[in-house]
Amino acid sequence: MRYVVACDHAGLPLKGILMEELEAQDHRVEDLGTMTEESVDYPLFAVKVARAIEAGTADMGLLLCGTGIGMALAANRAAPVRAVTVSDCFSARMAREHNDANILCMGARVVGPGVAVDILRSWLAAEFQGGRHTRRVQMIMEAESL
Ligand code: RB5
Repeated sequence: MRYVVACDHAGLPLKGILMEELEAQDHRVEDLGTMTEESVDYPLFAVKVARAIEAGTADMGLLLCGTGIGMALAANRAAPVRAVTVSDCFSARMAREHNDANILCMGARVVGPGVAVDILRSWLAAEFQGGRHTRRVQMIMEAESL
């Protein structure tokens, strides 16, 4: 898979270790910033990742900030993607199996590096189950017209 990854200053401590895990599992990884600890506005980075998926230049995204919350909120408004904030392995698996989520968001002020790697592994090991979930995911994407 082609992954695009981005973070703000608060998410930076998790970025390197999670990119290493993606690469170790043979995913192609592109880093869209931020590269330093200087304070930045996380929505700008969420939008970059969401738009790369919308444009088809990436399949999946990983977004990291302090909580993972602001990144998911911004990504879900910027493009027709499904970004989820996750801080446990079960939710990571369910987000893939039931919701076909395509952007994983985590908070470096919520989970440490060990938990974050386990969450990413759970996400990577899971697959969308289709079936009844396909209809529901479609309803999410068309929620404005329900
Ligand atoms: C930055 O202080 C913090 O607000 C940001 O990283 C994130 O947690 C927002 O949701």
